[in-house]
Amino acid sequence: MAHWEISETDFLSACASVHGGADGGVGTLSEKTVHAVLKHCCAPFSDSREVQIGGFIADAVGEEGIIEIQTTGFYRMRKKLAVFLSACPVTVVWPCVETLWLRKLDPLTGEAGARRKSPRRQCPPMLFRELYSLGELVAEPGLRFKVVRLEAEELRSAEKVRGRKGHWPTYQKIDRYPIRLLGEVDVDCKEELWKLLPVRPEELPETVTAAEFGSLCGTGADLGRMTLKVLCRAGLAQEAGKKGRAVLYRLERNESSIKSPPLGENQKGMSIMPVMPSREEAWALLCQYNEEPFHRRHAVTVEGVMRWFADQLGYGDEKDFWGLVGLLHDLDFERWPEEHCIKVQELLTERDYDPKLIHGIVSHTGRIPGFAPEHQMEKVLFATDELTGLIGAVALMRPSKSVQDLEVKSVMKKFKTPKFAAGCSREVISEGAEMLGWELSDLIEKTILAMRSCEAEYEKY
Ligand SMILES: [Fe+2]
Repeated sequence: MAHWEISETDFLSACASVHGGADGGVGTLSEKTVHAVLKHCCAPFSDSREVQIGGFIADAVGEEGIIEIQTTGFYRMRKKLAVFLSACPVTVVWPCVETLWLRKLDPLTGEAGARRKSPRRQCPPMLFRELYSLGELVAEPGLRFKVVRLEAEELRSAEKVRGRKGHWPTYQKIDRYPIRLLGEVDVDCKEELWKLLPVRPEELPETVTAAEFGSLCGTGADLGRMTLKVLCRAGLAQEAGKKGRAVLYRLERNESSIKSPPLGENQKGMSIMPVMPSREEAWALLCQYNEEPFHRRHAVTVEGVMRWFADQLGYGDEKDFWGLVGLLHDLDFERWPEEHCIKVQELLTERDYDPKLIHGIVSHTGRIPGFAPEHQMEKVLFATDELTGLIGAVALMRPSKSVQDLEVKSVMKKFKTPKFAAGCSREVISEGAEMLGWELSDLIEKTILAMRSCEAEYEKY
């Protein structure tokens, strides 16, 4: 299929019309320049931009269908994409900033200061993180992707600026503008997803674990796992048993005619290290978005419970990670109850937090499509989240107001009284026990023990 390309000339003229020149002129500060430049490149004529289709606005419409430019948060496009794809092919254009220069704005002169290279850089395989959040949509015929590889500059405030209420002061990103077009990668059908990776499918073994795949592709195990899941959804890989405790994937390599792009400097041996926050950072983040002592207390309770279960179930070396997921699981609930488990993806993704942490948190209600509790840790969180509320409420009825002398039968009795602590869903708790393959009484007993282990801690809140 012939596909359109962004020429150097189109790129430079788009830069010129959006921000007054590709050599660093700073123009319309209110508009996100990377987005605007790409929109001009994809649709040079204004009447083909911002077109209303099926109740949504498309960035551009061209001969090849709809064009959407999206930098991050692909999960927000799911509804829109489903509607657009029922009408015609859609190309999602993803700017991939492979080289980023940072400049601070001088408050006195109003000029941008000397630039320094940012250690943060993107590469085409990172698109798999976004594709993962599209769920089954990724296999839709008619969905295409265009990765536009860029060098860009980011202009920041000279001093840290206080953000919205409750946000920590930080350097404010004034704008990011592209300065050089490095190349493009076109994925015109799901079979071409291989083109995003720096290795050809035929260079990979027939079966791999996520860790092996991540190391062969230079993406690290977690992005490797997400990539394999996307490839499974696209029918290019499938689960094929286990190797030790790790899932083994069989790669479908029939499409060997698909040529991977030549390896770019930036892709060779690139390692993408996802960020795992420290306990202190996670606590600060929790407090930033949760002011209610009740919510903070619940977070600390679930953190302690998760740590106990990690020890008990043979995941002692991952105890800190289980605790972090517990601590942050309801991060977005106080401020965005309507977007619970959706907003949190944005809050954590923009901090480059580990996808493993994000999956653990987003899957905890089992209600977000494409994010089912899969790992033992996620099942434990699903099962105990509501149950800690019920156990806490039963404990409060006792003279001691403590879980230390609470018995399983007291909780079982209240479990069967729907009006008692009606907000704690008995259905979810039962489903959680089933998911784990445990008797309900067994789950309750373990959770009481877990809460006993950390009661002193959550009593402080
Ligand atoms: Fe919760």
